[in-house]
Amino acid sequence: MTVKLCASVMCMDFSQLGREIAELERAGVDELHFDIMDGAFVPNITMGFEAIRAARKVTKLPFTAHLMIVQPERYIHRFAEEGCKTITIHAESTRHPHRAIQQIRDSGAAPGLALGPATPLYTANFLVGQLQKILVMAVEPGFVGQRAIPDISVRIEKVKQLVTDRSVHVAIGVDGNVSAENVDELVRAGASFLVLGTSSIFNQPVRPGVALRSFRDRINNATAGLTNRCPIG
Ligand code: DX5
Ligand code: ZN
Repeated sequence: MTVKLCASVMCMDFSQLGREIAELERAGVDELHFDIMDGAFVPNITMGFEAIRAARKVTKLPFTAHLMIVQPERYIHRFAEEGCKTITIHAESTRHPHRAIQQIRDSGAAPGLALGPATPLYTANFLVGQLQKILVMAVEPGFVGQRAIPDISVRIEKVKQLVTDRSVHVAIGVDGNVSAENVDELVRAGASFLVLGTSSIFNQPVRPGVALRSFRDRINNATAGLTNRCPIG
């Protein structure tokens, strides 16, 4: 079983961005995850195109843009132009999620749908056939260092059931408070990619690269024998 590990750029030391990215790349991170927040869809502001461009100068890793902005359709093409391989939107951020997802596909990026902790899962019912990834939020989007909702594994299992019932290849990921304490159950519930932030590899007693390596070992041990794999890169 392969679980992809995605490092949250929002949690990096911005004064050491190049160094941290290089360190995580050496440690075997699979992807960089950019949390883009506009102060309107969520009550926080993070980063935009410049940060993605700066990161691109130092790595060839795949990038995901996780858009927590209102009317993401205004900017989808820009994130695709910056080379984001995956663009993930929240259904509540647009009046026309199906159209926005089609826009992502037309841009050449892989479309992802993020489901907030209270977003009804049926929101994905008629979109799942158009998606490549579903990002299950374990926290309300907006801030690092929050506690996961108690029933996160149940939500992942239900999303997995939805995907299985439709016989589609959609990777299921988790974002928010992924940690050594909960990772085993998240993966067993069906997650095949994980967004790693301050709860797992940043703000830890050891360097992010060291933390990532031990996180990978832990997942490998915990999941030996499980068959759910990330179906796409
Ligand atoms: C929330 C953010 C965070 C972050 C993960 O919108 O997306 O979930 O990436 O960081 P921690 O581990 O601090 O939750
Ligand atoms: Zn995110």
